[in-house]
Amino acid sequence: MLSVATSTRLLLRRHRPLPLTVRIRNISRASSNEISILDQRYEVDGTTNITQSIIAKLPLRLHNQPAHPLGILRSKIESHFHDFAHLSSVHPVVTPAQNFDLLGFPPDHPGRSVTDSYYINKDCMLRTHTSAHEVETFATGQSKWLLTADVYRRDEIDSSHYPVFHQMEGARVFKTDKAGIEGVKADNQSLSRYLDQSNIVIEDIPHISPTNPAQPTHDPVHSELVALNLKLSINSLLLKLFGGGARDAPLQVRWIEAYFPFTSPSFEVEILYQGKWLEILGCGVVQQLTLDNAGKCLCYSLFFARPHPSLGIPDNIGWAFGLGLERIAMILFGIPDIRLFWSTDPRFLSQFSENKITAFKPYSKYPACFKDVSFWVPEGGLHENDFCDLVRDVVGDLAEDVKIVGGLWSRGFFSLTSTAIDRFLHSSQDRSQERVLPDKLPVDG
Ligand code: PHE
Repeated sequence: MLSVATSTRLLLRRHRPLPLTVRIRNISRASSNEISILDQRYEVDGTTNITQSIIAKLPLRLHNQPAHPLGILRSKIESHFHDFAHLSSVHPVVTPAQNFDLLGFPPDHPGRSVTDSYYINKDCMLRTHTSAHEVETFATGQSKWLLTADVYRRDEIDSSHYPVFHQMEGARVFKTDKAGIEGVKADNQSLSRYLDQSNIVIEDIPHISPTNPAQPTHDPVHSELVALNLKLSINSLLLKLFGGGARDAPLQVRWIEAYFPFTSPSFEVEILYQGKWLEILGCGVVQQLTLDNAGKCLCYSLFFARPHPSLGIPDNIGWAFGLGLERIAMILFGIPDIRLFWSTDPRFLSQFSENKITAFKPYSKYPACFKDVSFWVPEGGLHENDFCDLVRDVVGDLAEDVKIVGGLWSRGFFSLTSTAIDRFLHSSQDRSQERVLPDKLPVDG
């Protein structure tokens, strides 16, 4: 049998001792054939890849803590869209149909793969975006709503990537009858008037174009009006969040064509921040398929626990946006590392209070330390995200960064052991001959 070894560098924070016993589990399969998630039991199967460290995050719902930066930001955006319905306690377990199919994701979309998403079993997964709740929320008959939730994507480890983060979905639909369209026009006029007198410079693009078209079932005039309403609504939100600069330093916003399976036309929005364009959100005119599915109530949400009555959503046209709360909070509060949001250290939490944006003051004086780990990769290969999940399960948020430094090299068959990893993690010296993995070791657990 042939296997390959890899060499990886972990950057660890030094302020807490590392665990004495490090257990390496097979992260793709649970030990019994059931797992408990938020007090509900689920059968595991060959798709199961959710890890204990991820399960531990599910009850935390940072966005619902009023004095947490994510909760403060949620409230600020909700106060801007004050006449929208505000939802923030939706269950994180969805079906792949909710997360992908009902939104028109193609069957081969990479986001569906087990290396990108957390599956509980083949029929249940953790939502990877708040758009997973669009169909069921439209099906309740809400015409304007914001939905905030924790979302889960398998990812690398560094200061701006974490496998759990928070998104806010916003949506608004209008009736396509005369009164509905007149309503869009009136709203566009009042929003334009407000933006015209504000300190903002907007680089715009056409609302629809051959490469970013209106949907075939839409009247292009309606599509233009709704796309304009979306842009005006988002520009005014950005002013609320990032405006307020000096007269000669207006907020700079730019609109870019984008693609999402569930909107057309679609856009991304960026702001100029410290000389760099930063992507803030994705949005677009909702695909009619989503509204049709809401109307037919194809969706069965685990949160609502029963199907909703059909509310004639297909006679509407609307927009939706999705934004990442961490990215915006990092800018507004000056928080340099995404992992700090999970801190329970009073030196972090006591810095913030409800309804106030305050600048974060760094408090850790401990230097970073590097650890090199070499290990043998299973014969079928190892995805970097599998290794990152393993590190997270073992050392938690102490690992600041994981990088492959030595590449892969071939050798005979080996098994990875806890003792070996332990030895490397506890060593504060560079790799020496005794610390190289012995040739064959028993697999633990
Ligand atoms: N769900 C998309 C994402 O996670 C964002 C989005 C939401 C885009 C709504 C368009 C409309 O990237």
